[in-house]
Amino acid sequence: MKDDLRGKHILLGVTGSIAAYKSVLILRRLVQAGAQVTVVMTSSAQQFITPLTFQVLSRRPVYTSLFDSSEEIRHLTLAEQVDMILIAPATANIIGKIAHGIADDLLTTLVTAGPAPMVMAPAMDGEMWNHPVLQRNLSILNGLGVQIIPPEEGPLASGKEATGRLASEEKILAVVFDRLGRKADLKGETVLVTAGPTQEPIDPVRYLTNRSSGKMGYALARAAQWRGARVILVSGPTHLPCPAGVERILVRTAEEMRDAVLGHWAATTLLIMAAAVADYRPRHPAGRKIKKDGSDFFLELEPTPDILAELRAQRGSRILVGFAAETEDLDRQARTKLERKGLDMIVANDVTQEGAGFDLDTNIVTLIDAHGETVALPRLSKAETAERILDRIIELKSRSKAGDHPLR
Ligand code: PMT
Repeated sequence: MKDDLRGKHILLGVTGSIAAYKSVLILRRLVQAGAQVTVVMTSSAQQFITPLTFQVLSRRPVYTSLFDSSEEIRHLTLAEQVDMILIAPATANIIGKIAHGIADDLLTTLVTAGPAPMVMAPAMDGEMWNHPVLQRNLSILNGLGVQIIPPEEGPLASGKEATGRLASEEKILAVVFDRLGRKADLKGETVLVTAGPTQEPIDPVRYLTNRSSGKMGYALARAAQWRGARVILVSGPTHLPCPAGVERILVRTAEEMRDAVLGHWAATTLLIMAAAVADYRPRHPAGRKIKKDGSDFFLELEPTPDILAELRAQRGSRILVGFAAETEDLDRQARTKLERKGLDMIVANDVTQEGAGFDLDTNIVTLIDAHGETVALPRLSKAETAERILDRIIELKSRSKAGDHPLR
């Protein structure tokens, strides 16, 4: 049953907003759906509502401070036990602190102490919501896989009409049900995801690379791990932290990426190549820094190994999914790659579209499978795009089992 949260443990973080009273209604619905809910309140939340209200409704102690008693410190283990952290309402203050790893009270400490997925429903004044600092902090959280439920437009406590009202109870609950109601549909699979750029050395201090940040691949790795898969993430150089529970192998060049993928090939059941692998590399990288002598300089390039094309011959029953980042003729280019590389599905992104492609928190992709069926997704966060890609892979797999849509 979709709205059944029995057996799920949710940490509900309540912060200091006038919308704090709405978290009482959210708590009630979560408890009615069978979830065990532990409420953690910040000190400013307690200016708006008392812990007793949450305690009565959750039938559990409410935690408010890191230092009150050893009992509360022991509850740091909570962070390792919960299935989800839901912060509703989330103020600009808590968003800023969590985005920058500040852990100066119980709630901010708990969120950095465990692997549970985090969902935040911000509520604040319209000016604050639109402030570039807040938006940058949301972008950091988004990149770390935190799902943000945007606030709605309407009358605010200040009397103004603007965007800043806590999302409706229904919207927040729908996200919780969707995330926790989802079964572990990749359990038993070993998913190998490649992410990020490669760097091909020219000399000891220079290299050829591209603008991939790794965000798309990391979102896929995180989503597959949440769905119960063993996940191996082969990553080019990025600044992203390794998602909890994921085995990461760091590589630099296309050749190293190939070796890492081949090294884990025997265990892999599903390969998703989101990495932007260099197609060419300098044929003769210099052993010493190349000096400027005023004349023209020519770099001779040679092709790198095409990892997907090489794996095609040894695919067995594995599912192969590739990406295509294109700047023109998306559909045709993507289909050609799908065919040439023998893929089951290709995720095509037109990187010239606003909100799509390299180094952004959102993407706009079309999923094209080996039988020509296409699913065009709207602009979504990379976390949500990853979920939809996995949904489609699982759908194709189950249709294939039923015999109406053979995978390649
Ligand atoms: O990392 P982000 O900043 O989040 O950006 C995400 C992204 C734009 C990098 C990602 O969504 C994406 O599109 N990745 C593929 C980029 C690409 O350039 O693909 P391609 O068209 O060069 O290659 C097609 C496929 O072959 C890809 O799956 C690629 O991983 C694979 N390939 C490419 C070259 C090579 N030598 N070996 C390969 O296996």
